[in-house]
This record gives sequence, structure tokens and C-alpha cells, in this order.
Amino acid sequence: MFGEISDRYDLLNRLLSAGTDVAWRNLAVREALRPSDRRVVDLACGTGDLALALRRKAHPACTVVGMDFTAPMLRIAQRKGARNPAGSVHWVEGDGLRLPLPSGSVDLVTIAFGIRNMESLEGALREIHRVLRPGGRLAVLEFSRPGNKLVETLYYPYFLHVLPRLGALISNRSAYLYLPQSVLHFPGRRELARIMKREGFGRVRHCALSFGIAALHIGDKLPERPS
Ligand SMILES: C[S@@+](CC[C@H](N)C(=O)[O-])C[C@H]1O[C@@H](n2cnc3c(N)ncnc32)[C@H](O)[C@@H]1O
Repeated sequence: MFGEISDRYDLLNRLLSAGTDVAWRNLAVREALRPSDRRVVDLACGTGDLALALRRKAHPACTVVGMDFTAPMLRIAQRKGARNPAGSVHWVEGDGLRLPLPSGSVDLVTIAFGIRNMESLEGALREIHRVLRPGGRLAVLEFSRPGNKLVETLYYPYFLHVLPRLGALISNRSAYLYLPQSVLHFPGRRELARIMKREGFGRVRHCALSFGIAALHIGDKLPERPS
């Protein structure tokens, strides 16, 4: 599915969110990246926007990896990366549920609009936890449900009906039908924070973005896994 939407993916992101997706990714970088970070992985990087935003703000000595299991997405990321003057990103094909990375080797993992699509949310969190060093950080940027009746009354007609039609017109019908359905079935903000804690992340904090249309969750790997 992601291979089929890759060529129009950026266009639709900008169009369907009126450019807000760029601001969300920049906020994730500002909140998650620490000056001392030297090994950063943007998982499910797609066409690479978040990995490139990380590259622009990270220390020059920091290695930034963009990882995804969809080759057509990575090819677009690679092309965009070649035009990026901020330095290079390493684009790597890899599955979020079986990361090709040693345990304890990463300072920061980011994942934007990706974890919702993984076969197992817990499995992905466990794998991310494994590759982070103790004290390492995870930042999850994901669509969410506003939870406010007024906002939902205004937003859902667009999200559930207009967005899939625009997606079908410009890109792929089933992918953009799947998007709102997957958001409706994904854990809410508090529940996601609870699951992150259960999987060994501490200091888990989250904020609602754009009236709760999206959310940013950040957690740090505790030195010891809770039993
Ligand atoms: C909606 S796109 C998000 C892309 C990008 N992070 C962004 O901010 O626009 C979801 C991406 O997750 C990737 N993905 C889904 N499951 C994955 C997995 N198990 N391992 C690696 N990538 C995965 C897909 O290939 C796709 O590129």
C-alpha cells in the first residue's frame, strides 16, 4: 500500500493538512532532539521529511538514519536527501518489528505517522526500547482523536468523508479510506502513554496538536525494565 502511494505522498500530506504536517514534524524535532544526541533513527521515515528535519537541527557529528521497509518511499527520501545541504542522512531498508540495529545503540528514535500502521504496537515499542541506550528517547508523532465534541463535529466530516475522496482522486482509494479508520481504532492519547510506560518508557509526556487532531508522545528508556 505504501509503495503505491509513495509518488503522491508528499503532495497529499501538504494538501490534506494544509501544510500543518510540516509544523508538527518541526515541533517533534524541537521537543525530542537533545544537543548531545549522536545516533538518531527516524523509523518508518517514508519520504524522509522528519529525518531531514532532524538532520538540519542535529549536531554535525550526529549520525541520522532514516529507516523504512518500503523501497519506493526510501527512493524518494534519497532523492530529497541528495538536495539537502544540511548533511547526509543514511537511508536504510528495515522492518520496525525487527530493527537491524544492535541493542542499546541509539540516542533517539522518532516515528511519525508510522507506529499506527505496524502490525503490533507493543512489538514495535519493545524493539525501539531494545535499540535505545538507557536514557535514550522515543518520540511518537501520530494522528489522534480530538475528544472534544465540538471539534469532532467540525473535523470528522472532513476527516471521514472529504479526505478519503480527495485521496482517491489524487492517489489511492483504499489507502486513504484506511487512514481515518486506522486512526479511529488506534489508542487514544492517554492509552498510548500508558502502553509506552508498560513497555519500559519513563517520564512519558504527551501533548495534543491542532485541537487533538495529532499528538506528540515522548518517553525516555528507563535504566531498568519494570517487572
Ligand atoms: C504514513 S507513512 C509516514 C511516513 C513519514 N514518517 C512521515 O512523517 O510522513 C508510514 C510509513 O510507515 C512505514 N512502515 C509501516 N510499517 C513499517 C514497519 N513494520 N517497518 C518499517 N516501516 C514501516 C511505511 O512503509 C510508510 O512509509
